[in-house]
Amino acid sequence: MRCIETMKRAAAAVLICIIASALPVTAQTDSRAGSTERPTIAMIGAGDMGSAMGKLWAAAGYHVIFATRHPDELGPVVDEAGHGAEAAAVGEAVSRAEIICLAVPYKAEPSIAREHGDAMRGKVLVNVDNALAYRDGEIAAKAEAVGEAIYSARLFEGTRFIRAFNLKAAYSFPEPDQVDAADFTIPWTTNDESVRPIAEALIRATGGTPVYEGGLENAREY
Ligand SMILES: NC(=O)c1ccc[n+]([C@@H]2O[C@H](COP(=O)([O-])OP(=O)(O)OC[C@H]3O[C@@H](n4cnc5c(N)ncnc54)[C@H](OP(=O)(O)O)[C@@H]3O)[C@@H](O)[C@H]2O)c1
Repeated sequence: MRCIETMKRAAAAVLICIIASALPVTAQTDSRAGSTERPTIAMIGAGDMGSAMGKLWAAAGYHVIFATRHPDELGPVVDEAGHGAEAAAVGEAVSRAEIICLAVPYKAEPSIAREHGDAMRGKVLVNVDNALAYRDGEIAAKAEAVGEAIYSARLFEGTRFIRAFNLKAAYSFPEPDQVDAADFTIPWTTNDESVRPIAEALIRATGGTPVYEGGLENAREY
């Protein structure tokens, strides 16, 4: 009898772990901050991708801070996202966030890494950037040679680096009220297995189904 009770308790504990990892990050405890506050996302880049994704994450309960070189121009993006979204300079957004999403032209990555890379160490970094020769110039060929995900991860060494969303066209994200009905997959890669629940919650918050494809070397195809 006692044995059955013990097994039931063990099964319940496993179930709670599974449910906790599937919960929106809103409801999870940030152990570093020792609080249950919703995680803050620094959305660096507020163009087509940044504004579409930031709006979805804000609606899903994340605290989103949009950051660009011109944060004073981000009023319309912030207003559209709502849910307490803010705009700030990149340095401030990075320092306040647990999660950073980079949605900028690839050629901007080296300067962002130089200026803010140290402050990003230890934080989750979601990278959606694609290197395009016509827009990004020389760096596109360099990144292509080793793989864009690997090249970026080296620039932002020490971050918990995730490559995701870079195959998803900005215009094809659902509106927040259509997330539950959305039907698309997001392949993603990382070399840091510990980010899996965080990455998967971020993908699901946009309406996507995460498809984990292993290490960053597997992102070479996309
Ligand atoms: N659009 C898509 O459908 C799509 C799909 C998949 C992947 N991607 C990739 O996602 C990335 C973003 O694409 P996008 O279409 O959203 O570009 P976008 O509309 O041109 O927006 C770029 C954003 O980056 C900001 N930015 C540029 N340089 C910056 C810097 N040094 N520091 C901080 N912010 C900077 C810009 O603001 P300021 O100029 O004011 O600083 C702007 O808000 C690109 O790498 C792209 O290849 C795009």
